[in-house]
Amino acid sequence: MTNKREQKAILVLGGTGKTGRRVVERLRGRGVPVRVGSRAAEQSFDWTDRTTWAPVLRDVGAVYVSFHPDLAVPGAPETVGAFADLAVASGVSRLVLLSGRGEEEAQAAEKLIQSAGVEWTILRSSWFNQNFSEDYLREPVVGGEVALPVSTVPEPFVDADDIAEVAVAALIEGGHAGQLYELTGPRLLTFADAVAEIARATGRRIDFLPVSIEDYTGALTAEGVPVEVVELLTYLFTAVLDGRNAHVADGVQRALGRPPRDFADYAKDAAAAGAWNRT
Ligand SMILES: NC(=O)c1ccc[n+]([C@@H]2O[C@H](COP(=O)([O-])OP(=O)(O)OC[C@H]3O[C@@H](n4cnc5c(N)ncnc54)[C@H](OP(=O)(O)O)[C@@H]3O)[C@@H](O)[C@H]2O)c1
Repeated sequence: MTNKREQKAILVLGGTGKTGRRVVERLRGRGVPVRVGSRAAEQSFDWTDRTTWAPVLRDVGAVYVSFHPDLAVPGAPETVGAFADLAVASGVSRLVLLSGRGEEEAQAAEKLIQSAGVEWTILRSSWFNQNFSEDYLREPVVGGEVALPVSTVPEPFVDADDIAEVAVAALIEGGHAGQLYELTGPRLLTFADAVAEIARATGRRIDFLPVSIEDYTGALTAEGVPVEVVELLTYLFTAVLDGRNAHVADGVQRALGRPPRDFADYAKDAAAAGAWNRT
């Protein structure tokens, strides 16, 4: 890394989200100047408003790109590609993309980052552990029943802390440019297994209930979940969870020289931190 880039800030898009927040904490802990990219930030950044893009890119040397809501949504690659082009034109020399496994749109976005003309690292990640404690699966877990349209297809859930550590290494260290890291946890778990681990860690009864896709989308719609979110979840729980990603990968080990964190350790620590306390 050059001195010039060391003086420049690192822009962390989604910097208050599940992975971005952890990237920001780690960079600040190392004394690196950081700019948070989010709609609520002092200098607001909004993926849906391109006039907000150039101001946050001023004097930035590297960017952690986590797209919202999901790289799997139609149009995401074009938006990410347009942002990458502007970033490069603004003087950014390193792009680190948070991506998803087995998703056509996500892989299209990866290609655009790889061809943007600067150093790149791709973090192609499996489902996050933290979906159960910091996102849409928290409420069902706290309620004691997780009903999902999934069978016994296993997933190698990965921890957001591991993703953040790889992201920080890729943002500030040498040796990660041009690397595509497939980031997974150390073992495969079904959703029923994952819920059982959380039940064990919390000492509470939490049932896992497989439901049909029709019942699942019907329940979400009845709760007032927006149609595009219902469509996204349906895509993730059906097309992406068809077995195509049912294998572990070595990205965390390759990037950090240590194995990834196990789901049981995540569940234990999250339970101890009160992640599933009834509020
Ligand atoms: N969850 C998974 O299991 C999984 C697996 C693989 C890959 N991924 C990828 O991970 C990415 C999401 O990363 P994450 O889970 O770390 O983030 P997240 O928690 O979903 O993101 C929340 C962040 O995005 C910001 N945000 C929301 N709407 C925005 C908008 N319109 N413009 C700009 N910022 C906006 C939020 O801040 P404000 O509200 O202040 O704007 C917040 O900082 C997606 O691209 C997805 O494809 C997810």
